[in-house]
Amino acid sequence: MEDKAVATDVPPEVWRHPLFAGCAEYVPVTQDLAIALCDAGLRRVRRMPSTADYSRLALLDAVQAQQRKALQWLDGIQDPSAIALKGLLNHLERLTGTQSNGLSDEMYQRAVTRLAESLPAQARAVLPEFPAAREDIRATLGLIRILIVDRFFRESAAWRNRYLKSAYRYADRALRYNTTTDLARMRPVLAWIRQVLTGQSRSRASYADVGCAVAEGAPAVVLAAETLRRGGLVETVHGTDIVVASRELVAHMRGEYHINLYSSNPVCRPLPMRYDVILLANVHRHLVQADQETLLRHLAASLNTQGLLFINWRFNDRESPCLCLQKNAGHIEVLAEYNCVF
Ligand SMILES: C[S@@+](CC[C@H](N)C(=O)[O-])C[C@H]1O[C@@H](n2cnc3c(N)ncnc32)[C@H](O)[C@@H]1O
Repeated sequence: MEDKAVATDVPPEVWRHPLFAGCAEYVPVTQDLAIALCDAGLRRVRRMPSTADYSRLALLDAVQAQQRKALQWLDGIQDPSAIALKGLLNHLERLTGTQSNGLSDEMYQRAVTRLAESLPAQARAVLPEFPAAREDIRATLGLIRILIVDRFFRESAAWRNRYLKSAYRYADRALRYNTTTDLARMRPVLAWIRQVLTGQSRSRASYADVGCAVAEGAPAVVLAAETLRRGGLVETVHGTDIVVASRELVAHMRGEYHINLYSSNPVCRPLPMRYDVILLANVHRHLVQADQETLLRHLAASLNTQGLLFINWRFNDRESPCLCLQKNAGHIEVLAEYNCVF
C-alpha cells in the first residue's frame, strides 16, 4: 500500500524541470516494409524509441540482406505470380543498369512511365514527378525493387511466415539500446552524490546505478564504488540494466569489486530490493514520456525511507543537471539540484 501512495507522489515540479522537457518519441512507420514494421513493433515492445547510433545503419544493411535472401528464394519459385515479378524486376534492372545510359532523357522517362503502369499503386506512389533528375529516378527504382519483392513475400501464403520470421531476426539483430557512457561525465555526478551523503551523515548506505551501461562493462559502477565507499558512506553497490550482463562480467565485478550486477526493467516493475541511494544517469530521456513517469514511480517505490533518487542528464559539457529527490513518510520531495560539471 505504502509503495502505491509513494509511487504516485512524484511532485509536479519534477515534471516541469528542464530534465523532462522534450523526450524520445516512437517514429511513425512510413514504409510499408517488413523490416520497418518489425523495427517499429520491437521498439514498442522493448520501450526503446531511441537506439544506439549504430542501429540506423544496421537496419539499412538488414533491408539489403533481407532483399538478397528474398531474391535467392524467388529464383526457385516458378508460379505465375513469381514469373510476373521476375519480369518486372528485369524491366527495373534495365532501367537502373548501365544499358539505360544511351537513352535520351525523354526516352528514359517514357520507359519509366510504361514501367509505372505495371507497378502496384504503393510502389508507383514513390516515383518522383517528371521532370526529375535521372539519378533520383534510379534511386527510387532501387527502392521500388525492394518494396515489390517485400510485398510479394508478405502476400504469399506459402512464404509469408518464413519471410516475416527472417525480417524479425534481421531487425532484432540491428536494434541495440543506446549504451554510451563516459567516466568524465560521471565524476562530477558521483562527487555531488558523495557531498549530499556526507551532508546527511549517511553511513553504510546501499546504492544502485540504474541503466549502468552493462554493454560497456558498467565502468561508472566501479567508479561509484570507489567514490562512495570511501569513509564508509556506502557499503552495498549494485548495478542494474535492461541489458543482461555476461557471466564473466558478473563474476569479475563481484570478485574484483564486490559489486552485484543484475538485469531489470524498472519501467515494468520496481527493483527487486530497496536502496538508500539510486542513480539514474542518462537513461530517462531515451524513453517516451509515459514510460519516464512509470520508471520514476517504480524507482520511488524501490527506495528505503529517507532514500535518495538522483536523476541526471548530461545535455552538453556545461549543462548536466542532476535532481535529488528524497522519499519521506509517504511522499517524494525535491531535496536539491546541482549542475554536475567540473
Ligand atoms: C546512455 S546509457 C547511460 C549509461 C550510464 N548511466 C551513464 O550515464 O554513463 C543508457 C543505459 O540505460 C540502459 N537502459 C535503457 N532502458 C532501460 C530500462 N528500461 N531499464 C534499465 N536500463 C535501461 C541502457 O541499456 C544503457 O545501459
